[in-house]
Amino acid sequence: MTDKFVMAIDQGTTSTRAIIFDHSGKIVATGQKEHEQIFPKAGWVEHDAKEIWDNVRSVVADALSRASLNSGDMAAIGITNQRETTLVWDKTTGEPVYNAIVWQDTRTAKIIDDLGGEEGQDKYKERVGLPLATYFAGPKVKWVLDNVEGARAKAEAGELVMGTMDSWVLWNMTGGTDGGVHVTDVTNASRTMLMDLKTLSWDESIAEDMGIPMSMLPEIKSSAEVYGEGRARGLLPGVPIAGILGDQQAATFGQACFEPGMAKNTYGTGNFMLLNTGEEIVPSKNGLLTTVCYKIGDNKPIYALEGSIAVTGSLVQWLRDNLKIIGSAPEIEELAATVEDNGGAYFVPAFSGLFAPYWKSDARGALVGLTRYVNRGHIARAVLEATAFQTREVLEAMEADSGVKLAELKVDGGMTGNELLMQFQADQLGVDVVRPVVAETTALGAAYAAGIAVGYWGGEQDVIDNWAEDARWTPQVDEGERDRVFRNWKKAVTRTFDWVD
Ligand code: G3P
Repeated sequence: MTDKFVMAIDQGTTSTRAIIFDHSGKIVATGQKEHEQIFPKAGWVEHDAKEIWDNVRSVVADALSRASLNSGDMAAIGITNQRETTLVWDKTTGEPVYNAIVWQDTRTAKIIDDLGGEEGQDKYKERVGLPLATYFAGPKVKWVLDNVEGARAKAEAGELVMGTMDSWVLWNMTGGTDGGVHVTDVTNASRTMLMDLKTLSWDESIAEDMGIPMSMLPEIKSSAEVYGEGRARGLLPGVPIAGILGDQQAATFGQACFEPGMAKNTYGTGNFMLLNTGEEIVPSKNGLLTTVCYKIGDNKPIYALEGSIAVTGSLVQWLRDNLKIIGSAPEIEELAATVEDNGGAYFVPAFSGLFAPYWKSDARGALVGLTRYVNRGHIARAVLEATAFQTREVLEAMEADSGVKLAELKVDGGMTGNELLMQFQADQLGVDVVRPVVAETTALGAAYAAGIAVGYWGGEQDVIDNWAEDARWTPQVDEGERDRVFRNWKKAVTRTFDWVD
């Protein structure tokens, strides 16, 4: 079997990719396609789920043709996905009743306030590990049922189902209206606010509070088992689909963070740091999430603490698309390198409110510290520094919650190609920052989960053996300077609070 390959489908926030890996964990071929970001109102973000499914089909075909392989060469398929992004669709027609509501969307602010009531933001935290925030999936379903004409009646009649993007892709791949399986995995389910972290099953009373009929919810399975196979005469016919992990958990798996105390930080649209806490569910007192890290087949679940930052890479895109200060994302490094420092400017990108460690839905972005001295270069630098400062806040929260002092931080994702940012990150954290050879650890993690489920890989040791270091950044700045700029950052953050009436 080891002469075969494993494919990962990575359905991300800005694009969908299919990546084919060989047995040594190396990339053989990739297909990638971006999808439209739909912004109907300030604070709203949607995706067209049919466009995403079309893109899945086209990137799978592209990857196979680039590798000169066909579906019969695939031992298994793993799915990984942007988490929390939520879709409600009609199971008999296959039609979404509304666009997918993206994790960054803030339209559920009132719903979550009402749900919290007297008990406030932490009402369900002990059970689900999450504060009430616009980020999570359950309240997005409630919004659809409350606002799309006829949806609630259809949902109550058992005609509608909900899912995060893993479920949508899997359902379509395994047959759609013609017997598609309606399943999610424990990591995605742990982002809905509807799954009990201890029992790994849906919490009926929370679903009732949100007015979500239980018949809408997918079956919760582990992150590595055979859920179904590609439908006959469809995409990848007969190939077992055998791994599902939310993208951040997939990256943690692909980075071989298998021991309690090991952490990774992924630099994507947002930044997500996960610390493996083993079989222990560690509640956060410092604004982090408690989430499922992975569960391999019948093994016990492994949990994590997570620091989620909504806006990092997407701030660079915003600079490119909305302000047109740069022509392409990589140009930001060149522009930032034209100046010595940030010139006193700090950019707090609270575009979706603030996530960890603040959880303030009513925060909005701010660029502060401006004088006539500040130029494009300083703004570019402030944009990059925002990613590193936010990461430091999350790392400090993680150390406080877990009592673990990190010796180094494993990083991955697009922005880790930015040397200036990575050096500043190491300076801010005061620990080494380490990038692996295969920086596509999200897709790799999902491929490993699927490959382990079908026996293509033996287990976690294979992942560890295949992991190799590519680059390392060591702190170089003196502590006084490091803390001075961080103090200014903290002050800038307070300027973003309470912006929505
Ligand atoms: O929780 C949101 C996260 O899963 C999105 O990740 O890489 O698509 O920005 P990414």
